[in-house]
Amino acid sequence: KETKDQLIINAGQKHFGAIVCRSCGMIYTASSPEDEMRHVQYHHRFVEGIKYAGWKKERVVAEFWDGKIVLVLPRDPSYAIRKVEDVQELVDNELGFQQVVLRCPNKTKTFLFISDEKRVVGCLIAEPIKQAFRVLSEPTGPESPSSKECNRAWQCSNVPESAVCGISRIWVFRLKRRKRIARRLVDTLRNCFMFGCFLSTDDIAFSDPTPDGKLFATKYCNT
Ligand code: ACO
Ligand code: ZN
Repeated sequence: KETKDQLIINAGQKHFGAIVCRSCGMIYTASSPEDEMRHVQYHHRFVEGIKYAGWKKERVVAEFWDGKIVLVLPRDPSYAIRKVEDVQELVDNELGFQQVVLRCPNKTKTFLFISDEKRVVGCLIAEPIKQAFRVLSEPTGPESPSSKECNRAWQCSNVPESAVCGISRIWVFRLKRRKRIARRLVDTLRNCFMFGCFLSTDDIAFSDPTPDGKLFATKYCNT
């Protein structure tokens, strides 16, 4: 199979310990068939993206010339939840998160950007923020002074007290970046998070942003 060939070509040097796949970046153990299976699956999704065939009952919250945004809520049918879990696994792997448990899983709102090619090309996971959430955007653990400074500058541009919505994850399929997909996801979130009001950028906070996330958020919040 195609994926297998690619695997052999792209995978790093094989040994009994951990292997880092050079194309998808996943770390796995070749000696564990289970691990290797997980890698094949992840690798395929990383390269091809996650398919979305369409659901009978889908909540389309925005439509564009190049795709649409579908909202998934915690009590949605299991096929929708499973799709969200697949996407989240891909995203978390890419962000280097391991088994991150969402704060309020029953209040999570997941926005999926579906491309014309029927693939999930963007994902935004939002949660209501509690007071304690504010600490999350503060530097956690040992960090270099420069990254701390970044974090601080980042925080000043926000008013945590009035924040009501936390963006726990934002991700765009790597081949679809810089096409304003993330921007449209956040716009849609602001429109849909609380019924009847459009959230200001002060009301939303990005939790634990990556460098990409910071660049995007800074730009987004200033425009
Ligand atoms: N470098 C510099 N500026 C950027 C970048 C970047 N990597 N990404 C976005 N911007 C700025 C630009 O000004 C851009 O406008 P322009 O293209 O007209 O110049 C503006 O933000 C809007 O960008 P979008 O096209 O809407 O952003 P995109 O759809 O590419 O998605 C994202 C941005 C989600 C950060 C994407 O790069 C990604 O998925 N990265 C990997 C995952 C990740 O790091 N996610 C953030 C984690 S933090 C968190 O989840 C809370
Ligand atoms: Zn791989």
